[in-house]
Amino acid sequence: MLVLPKGVRHMPGYLSRAVQEALVEDVRQVVQEAPLFVPTMPRTGKEMTVRMTNCGSLGWVTDKEHGYRYQPMHPVTGTPWPPIPDVLLQLWRDVSAYPHPPEACLVNFYSPDAKMGLHQDRDEIDFSAPVVSVSLGDDCLFRVGQSTREGGTKSLRLKSGDVVVLGDEGRLCFHGVDRIYPSTSALLKNGGRINLTLRRVTYPG
Ligand code: SIN
Ligand code: FE2
Repeated sequence: MLVLPKGVRHMPGYLSRAVQEALVEDVRQVVQEAPLFVPTMPRTGKEMTVRMTNCGSLGWVTDKEHGYRYQPMHPVTGTPWPPIPDVLLQLWRDVSAYPHPPEACLVNFYSPDAKMGLHQDRDEIDFSAPVVSVSLGDDCLFRVGQSTREGGTKSLRLKSGDVVVLGDEGRLCFHGVDRIYPSTSALLKNGGRINLTLRRVTYPG
């Protein structure tokens, strides 16, 4: 059996197919208002392979000039991010064990050849809230390690409808996506994978 680091919870098939379909519609709506943008790495300006957008009062963005950050506006259109869909707010209430709503929902779109390097989610101020992650569409190979780069990592396959929570001692675990398994899900008409991560950014009040 695969033992995950403390504070890392994998809930396979947590969302029903019907809820996944509703979420895809919600994400399409979000992308219509807040188009996917091309994130670039701080300093080097190298393009990431995922395409991103956000919903919520804050969104996570990155570019060559200003690096990783949260901001209330879309970096290209300059307009506020659309609200976080109710299904996701309910999911947060159900699994986060955190008494305040999330502020940011990062939407990552992976084409079949996209991946994401091992990193920590640490641009937030309040680490007492977990990061709640939802997978939709094609399977991926997800890797999760310890809170330092040196610790070993575990790999697991994430499928559409799976939820992963990084909380408590697992909040700052390194994690990334090594690969997408193309055509493993029929949820997205054009294939690929969507990952949604809900985060609390600031302290409440
Ligand atoms: C992320 O760490 O932002 C994305 C993780 C994932 O795609 O599962
Ligand atoms: Fe992350």
